[in-house]
Amino acid sequence: MSVRHVAIIMDGNGRWAKARGKVRTEGHFRGVEVVRDAAIAANDLGIEVLTLYAFSTENWKRSAEEVGYLMKLPAVFFSRFLKELMEKNIRIAMIGEMDQIPAETAKILQSAMDETRNNTGMVLNFAMNYGSQREIVLAARKYAEDVKNGVRENDLEVNQFDQYLMTSEFPPLDLMIRTSGECRISNFLLWQLAYAELEFIDLPWPEFTKETLKECIEQFESRDRRFGGVKS
Ligand code: FPP
Repeated sequence: MSVRHVAIIMDGNGRWAKARGKVRTEGHFRGVEVVRDAAIAANDLGIEVLTLYAFSTENWKRSAEEVGYLMKLPAVFFSRFLKELMEKNIRIAMIGEMDQIPAETAKILQSAMDETRNNTGMVLNFAMNYGSQREIVLAARKYAEDVKNGVRENDLEVNQFDQYLMTSEFPPLDLMIRTSGECRISNFLLWQLAYAELEFIDLPWPEFTKETLKECIEQFESRDRRFGGVKS
């Protein structure tokens, strides 16, 4: 079975930097270059959607200095790599709540999405100011609105809930990778992970390469996904 939608929790930038006597932000800077490499690799491998956890709703708890730096990363990323992404026909998308992101950062994200809107290749989807519990609550509110407005009966089925989530336009999630040894989901794509394969790898994000992605996909392809059924 081919992999269509891959998500990555890009963890370990801070530890990678510290191990090299650098400050945490240098790890994030290197992390941005690896985002470019991962996007190009995923596109070359024929993946349809690559969803990257760039900033969680919990990341606001970090120091003001680090939050400020993380909010500058889209500018760093798009100023260096948007041209190449355009050439590769990659479309930029975002899940998360844009309205709490600093205006300058939001503007940069919006213009990258606008510029790549008509691209038909892979979707590079950034989870920015994203938290999955919040996503589910917002989806429930939207559904409640629809019922209140008489758009729907109160008869929602499991397979219809997807349409209320921020990922509604994307194919189902096949594979979730977390780097840097932590075995947690950290409020990422909780609903979407129901039948996804999970891979927790030891490598920190700054050391993630095309080869790593290939290995993860080979691992995925060797598994026997049964979606709760039995082997035929
Ligand atoms: C986790 O490492 C990483 C983040 C919180 C930020 C991830 C963001 C990027 C790699 C770049 C995003 C790029 C764009 C274009 C928005 P950590 O700081 O938690 O590492 P640690 O666990 O070792 O401290």
